[in-house]
Amino acid sequence: MENTNTTTTPRLLEGKLGLVFGVASQRSIAWAIAQAWAEAGARLAFTYQGERLRENVEELAATFGKDVPLYPCDVTRDSDLAAVFANVAKDFGKLHLLLHSVAFAPKEALEGQFLDTSREAFRIAHDVSAYSLLACARGAAPLMTEGGSILTLSYYGAEKVVPHYNVMGVAKASLEATVRYLAYDLGPKQVRVNAISAGPVNTLAARGISGFTNMLRLYPKISPMQRNIRTSELGGTALFLASDWGGGITGEVLHVDCGYHAMGMPPSSLLKPDA
Ligand SMILES: NC(=O)c1ccc[n+]([C@@H]2O[C@H](COP(=O)([O-])OP(=O)(O)OC[C@H]3O[C@@H](n4cnc5c(N)ncnc54)[C@H](O)[C@@H]3O)[C@@H](O)[C@H]2O)c1
Repeated sequence: MENTNTTTTPRLLEGKLGLVFGVASQRSIAWAIAQAWAEAGARLAFTYQGERLRENVEELAATFGKDVPLYPCDVTRDSDLAAVFANVAKDFGKLHLLLHSVAFAPKEALEGQFLDTSREAFRIAHDVSAYSLLACARGAAPLMTEGGSILTLSYYGAEKVVPHYNVMGVAKASLEATVRYLAYDLGPKQVRVNAISAGPVNTLAARGISGFTNMLRLYPKISPMQRNIRTSELGGTALFLASDWGGGITGEVLHVDCGYHAMGMPPSSLLKPDA
């Protein structure tokens, strides 16, 4: 989506060190947020899910210079996570920012009825999309010796039924609760934990959801702002939350969805007249 943000990013994250999980392509929400964090002065390291994505992430990370650390990590593997945080300790020595922009559910669980979700699909969706935040926070916390900000991405399907979102909605509800419990545990260390609940963005993960293009069509019709969000707006909000400007905010789920979540009924222009 076109970036209409023409203002200069303030250097709110000068001297901050960040770790980004979840870049797969230049359309990834993680990439939009990484760009905002880097423009604001943060130095970043990235993980990539596996060899299949290494080249993409390498190419994107190279736009920030030659010495950007990259680590392989499948978040379902404790050994991968342990290696990532050992490498961050070696390369950075400490950490201020962590972005968790990771989710997955088997494709068949994002079609048809929620009622048919298998035990295995339920387990995988929760392991990759919710437990992984806890695992990442546990790895990052000892390195966040100067306080820190942990940020994840959620979706409205955690709060209300969104047809086809199914088990991912239940996993996002778990993720949002995980944000609150982590905020409580890490608050005394001045480590803040928050989520952005984003409106639909056309990414690789989103295209796995049956009927996703209908979502993109519906938001401009229902949201008060009558449009879809811009990924630069996710970057801007993530920058605010990561910076001292968001310093008193933790355990929060902030909607960046052009106000869609605030609507209780579609506008009357969308309702067909009675036959
Ligand atoms: N795109 C949307 O409309 C939208 C809306 C709200 C929230 N979100 C959330 O934003 C986050 C990022 O998704 P995106 O839309 O940018 O899509 P994306 O496909 O660009 O990113 C998803 C990322 O998850 C990673 N991932 C999946 N399984 C993994 C595993 N086992 N180990 C490590 N990494 C793994 C992928 O490698 C990829 O980088 C997700 O949590 C998604 O649910 C997306």
